[in-house]
Amino acid sequence: MSAARLEALAPSGQRGRPVYELRGVSKTYARRNIQALGSVDLTLTEGSFSSVIGASGCGKSTLLKIMAGLVPPSAGRVMLAGSPVTGPRRDIGMMFQQATLFPWKTALENVVLPIEIRDGKAAARAKQGEARALLELVGLKGFETVYPGELSGGMAQRAAICRMLITEPAVLLLDEPFSALDELTRDYMNMELQRICMARNATAFLVTHSISEAVILSDTVYVMSPRPGRFVEAVEVDLPRPRTLEMITTPRFGALVDRIRSHLDKGSFL
Ligand SMILES: Nc1ncnc2c1ncn2[C@@H]1O[C@H](COP(=O)(O)OP(=O)(O)OP(=O)(O)O)[C@@H](O)[C@H]1O
Ligand SMILES: [Mg+2]
Repeated sequence: MSAARLEALAPSGQRGRPVYELRGVSKTYARRNIQALGSVDLTLTEGSFSSVIGASGCGKSTLLKIMAGLVPPSAGRVMLAGSPVTGPRRDIGMMFQQATLFPWKTALENVVLPIEIRDGKAAARAKQGEARALLELVGLKGFETVYPGELSGGMAQRAAICRMLITEPAVLLLDEPFSALDELTRDYMNMELQRICMARNATAFLVTHSISEAVILSDTVYVMSPRPGRFVEAVEVDLPRPRTLEMITTPRFGALVDRIRSHLDKGSFL
């Protein structure tokens, strides 16, 4: 699908200031000569929440890593807040599938770790108050001095969210952050994520395998073709905000899920 058509499909509420701009981004991994990503054009506007959904191996993580500056594209251009992304940046927060907390550090120490790495121990100490407030925000008050081994999976993911937020990133890149969680915890975490994004006017981009997760969270859901991944459809989610879990049972929600599923089925994958 052309960039112009995808842009035209972007919901009207999303036509704010562009934050991310990708033009003609593709990736071929040289080592095995695998073309992971076709040509991707994408504009994310300030405060918007978008998701990408597609089959395993279609290039979603590759796209996210390119956006994060962790992997260079083979072709194309990635701009964030007006400047090219050439490596990891302070204004980007990233979260992976597994919580990856350091087991020998407490929850609080894990949360301030990005500050310690970036600015040193004194700066990390100065951020402890803020880290405590973040832990409270995600329901982990009282667990500051607990080690990850004593946290549940959901609690560890909540601590990982705090660690992502401590640097106050303008954009959040999320690679299936909750896929290891049970359904109830995942629903709860999704509502938390929405609340945090709305409170901070953060721009978010989520990779997920769950159609309903994509719909409940997003303004736009991008459907990706099998490898080499490219966007085949941008589905606008016109449900009002804040979204609630009750919306999942509405006919409109069901219609959006069906529409996305039909695009995925067309590619005869998943
Ligand atoms: N570092 C790498 N070197 C070579 N090939 C890679 C590398 N990383 C990914 N690939 C290949 O690129 C393709 C896309 O991988 P990617 O991880 O982006 O897929 P994905 O859509 O995130 O899949 P999943 O849903 O399973 O996480 C795959 O065929 C994979 O084998
Ligand atoms: Mg992946």
